[in-house]
Amino acid sequence: MIITGGERLSGDVHISGAKNAALPILVSSLLTEGWNTYHNVPDLVDIKTIKNLLGILGADIKDDGPLQINTSGMNRCEASYDLVKTMRASILVLGPLVARTGEARVSLPGGCAIGARPVNLHIKALQDLGAEVDLKDGYIEAKAKRLKGTTIYFDISTVTGTENIMMAACLAQGMSCLKNAAREPEVVNLAETLNHMGARIFGAGSDEIIVEGVERLHPAETTLIPDRIEAGTFMIAAGLTGGDVRILGCDPSHLDALISKLRDSGVEITVFDGGVHVRSGRTLTSVDIKTLPYPGFPTDLQAQMMACLTCGSGLSVITETVFENRFMHVGELMRMGADIHVQGNSAIVKGVKRLRGAQVMATDLRASASLILAGLVAEGRTELSRVYHIDRGYQEIEKKFSALGADIRRVPA
Ligand code: EPZ
Repeated sequence: MIITGGERLSGDVHISGAKNAALPILVSSLLTEGWNTYHNVPDLVDIKTIKNLLGILGADIKDDGPLQINTSGMNRCEASYDLVKTMRASILVLGPLVARTGEARVSLPGGCAIGARPVNLHIKALQDLGAEVDLKDGYIEAKAKRLKGTTIYFDISTVTGTENIMMAACLAQGMSCLKNAAREPEVVNLAETLNHMGARIFGAGSDEIIVEGVERLHPAETTLIPDRIEAGTFMIAAGLTGGDVRILGCDPSHLDALISKLRDSGVEITVFDGGVHVRSGRTLTSVDIKTLPYPGFPTDLQAQMMACLTCGSGLSVITETVFENRFMHVGELMRMGADIHVQGNSAIVKGVKRLRGAQVMATDLRASASLILAGLVAEGRTELSRVYHIDRGYQEIEKKFSALGADIRRVPA
């Protein structure tokens, strides 16, 4: 992608459905026979990957209208390394496969650019539900005649861990209580979907979720929540460029932490039903950021906020507490003239007058978004390579930015 900086963003942008809600919700189709229908599904590479995995497991998929999935014909319970290595969220099939078929063979996801990201808590919780689990040849092999409800405590609040086990517990015998559960809006959207399918889940959105197991579920129709990380990315971009942008089709109540930090840095934010209006002058005031599980400041907006604060007045301290290696974008931002000093899990960002365009490389999904934002304000041209990262989580991002007046285009690699 080629970005030429200096344009103030203005106008309206429409937010797509949430990637991190779509992945577990589409997987939940494994829990029942019959046609499930999904609305507001984003058009992303990761969605294609999960549909491909469900297809390999034997699902029928129709997407000429709203997306429809039917897993009555499911005839396999293995998620291969070749698939899981392209998208670690494939681990989400583990719980539903064991709950529905009594067995699963799922490749361990392996390492990731932003951290080790083990799945030990998923495995421990599945064992707590009574599954026999072996790790063999890089695969998780799990078996259970029928899972048994119990109390599960997550050592760390884990989003996909909570989702995996919440799905499995739906068909377990008896009641489960998930303690220190993740509270993300995507977890709530999944619980709503499962309850539409006949599950009995209570307390989603809090750190204690109760699941009363049922004999079987039925197909249902559901709508995905908007993508709060995509919305947040455009809000930060509007703030950073001194823009005037309405972010439409998002849920502002999912963005409290970001709204509070942007306001602290001098950005004017007006919330209205179904959207936010972002207006800002040129130079932002530096603020400190500490990433935390929801409702704390999202780690998936840390890189974008860092790009924003590289041009702030004064010093900002950004502390990453969720992933141990999520500063890969720092080196690239420094190639653009940013002044950043990393100490342990904190980055000290000293605001500079202006960034300069450069050739930079994306290392992961959110890092690539932060480099686009930096390119929007940099002097001159920025060439961003490895944009395949961005297509995993943003739908036509360059078209959306162009419609807001940015000078950005995609060029063949
Ligand atoms: C989800 O990943 C999101 N992915 C991530 O978004 C997001 O960054 C993350 O939650 C945190 O908000 C999806 O929803 C598909 P975690 P997940 O388990 O579930 C440790 C994006 O950019 N941990 O909540 O994998 C883990 O290493 C992506 O869209 C264990 O130690 O994250 C991390 O330090 C990137 N053992 C912490 O917990 C486990 O078994 C939180 O991770 C599980 C997690």
